[in-house]
Amino acid sequence: MTVLVLNGPNLGRLGVREPAVYGTATYADLVARCEEVAREVGVEADVRQTDSEAEMIGWLHEAADAGSAVVLNAAAWTHTSIAVRDAAAQLGEPFVEVHLSNVHAREPFRHHSHLSDLAAAVVVGMGLEGYAAAVRFLAQPL
Ligand code: DQA
Repeated sequence: MTVLVLNGPNLGRLGVREPAVYGTATYADLVARCEEVAREVGVEADVRQTDSEAEMIGWLHEAADAGSAVVLNAAAWTHTSIAVRDAAAQLGEPFVEVHLSNVHAREPFRHHSHLSDLAAAVVVGMGLEGYAAAVRFLAQPL
């Protein structure tokens, strides 16, 4: 079983991007953590990042067609994109919405998500451990 871990805009700059908000772990650390947990629970993690909304929508279509479980940090598109929501709505398997930061403790425009009501679970504010929890959950849903 493969868990697709899909990351949206600016997440490739983790480590240098606003470290006071997102911490000092890099995107390479994020990939390594997901792969480590995946190994522990006996699944494959396919971790990707894009700054292109079209590419993200294509990956969600791919996941829908393959029946893959998805961990989705859509970053800013979470709050803005009906198109990403519509693509996530096509997923036949559960997905977990993840945010490194606690979006509810931040600016009001980050409090609304176009994805949360579609997600099997939502993890916010746990940094890389949120991804680890999401991969573990999807490998063995409750
Ligand atoms: C984020 C939170 C979003 O509000 C923001 O636009 C991001 C990252 C997070 O992981 O905390 O880019 O999704």
